[in-house]
Amino acid sequence: MKTASPFLELDDAPRVTVTFDGMPLSLPEGANLAATLLAAGVEVFRHTPVSGAPRAPFCMMGACFDCLVEIDGVVRQACMIEVSDGLKISKPHEAQDDPA
Ligand code: FES
Repeated sequence: MKTASPFLELDDAPRVTVTFDGMPLSLPEGANLAATLLAAGVEVFRHTPVSGAPRAPFCMMGACFDCLVEIDGVVRQACMIEVSDGLKISKPHEAQDDPA
């Protein structure tokens, strides 16, 4: 019978490098992206388009959409993605709000 937490097994996973808003992060390959970004200290994944309120993962099962991020130009739910090497992650639509 398995007694150890499955989350502890992630400590043994090989690390890969991703970027979040240009900041390099070393995350465990194959782990849940939303969980590992939170564990790495990312507190805001996006801002709402109307009020600009900050959002971060809430349900962790694909229902709330508060974990939306842009990965290589496509807006996706971070809680539905596995970490893989070279992901370029950013807050979605942030560049469109830039008046420059
Ligand atoms: S955390 Fe709710 S959809 Fe991802």
